[in-house]
Amino acid sequence: MIDVIDRILVSEEEIVRRSKELGKQISEDYRKKGTTPIVIGLLKGSVPFLAEIMKHIDLDIEIDFMDVSSYDGAESVGDVKINKDLDKSVKGESILLVEDIVDTGRTLKEVRQLLFNKGAADVKIVSLLDKPDRRVIEINADYVGFEIPNEFVVGYGLDYNQKYRNLPYIGVLKPSVYE
Ligand code: XMP
Ligand code: MG
Repeated sequence: MIDVIDRILVSEEEIVRRSKELGKQISEDYRKKGTTPIVIGLLKGSVPFLAEIMKHIDLDIEIDFMDVSSYDGAESVGDVKINKDLDKSVKGESILLVEDIVDTGRTLKEVRQLLFNKGAADVKIVSLLDKPDRRVIEINADYVGFEIPNEFVVGYGLDYNQKYRNLPYIGVLKPSVYE
């Protein structure tokens, strides 16, 4: 464990096990509906989780990525800026959006709206982590890996100043690092 990590909240083994469960559930749900989703990862945080969970989705999926950032400051509401758009049209498609964490809920609300504006027929959300205590927008992921307390976490895609995304676990960052 590197010295900026206070403690490990979710181990690599737990993430792999939970991804298998979620992948199986997602496969069953879409099979029942008779649709196949386009799996869309939000860059960059969702990459390790998407790579893990996609192996356990037993459907004929395609994957794509999007990079968005919110305008001005963390507390901003309103539009998101698209830094990297999708490669293909999603008109009429079912979308499974993959996120690293749902915090205030602002990102998911904006991205979901964006996808509906692009003509998506259906948008479901799978998030590795959920911090329900921090929610300001009423939105929930359809599939959640782990609910976590209100602490700043890094690893498995999640960063602090673009670092620590490569850690193979979810760890609580020592507050001394950012205070
Ligand atoms: P909202 O508030 O829009 O935020 O739901 C989602 C985005 O906020 C970031 N975020 C975190 N990143 N550790 C991180 O590394 C955290 O504990 C954390 N909480 C929120 C993240 O980019 C996520 O996509
Ligand atoms: Mg993010």
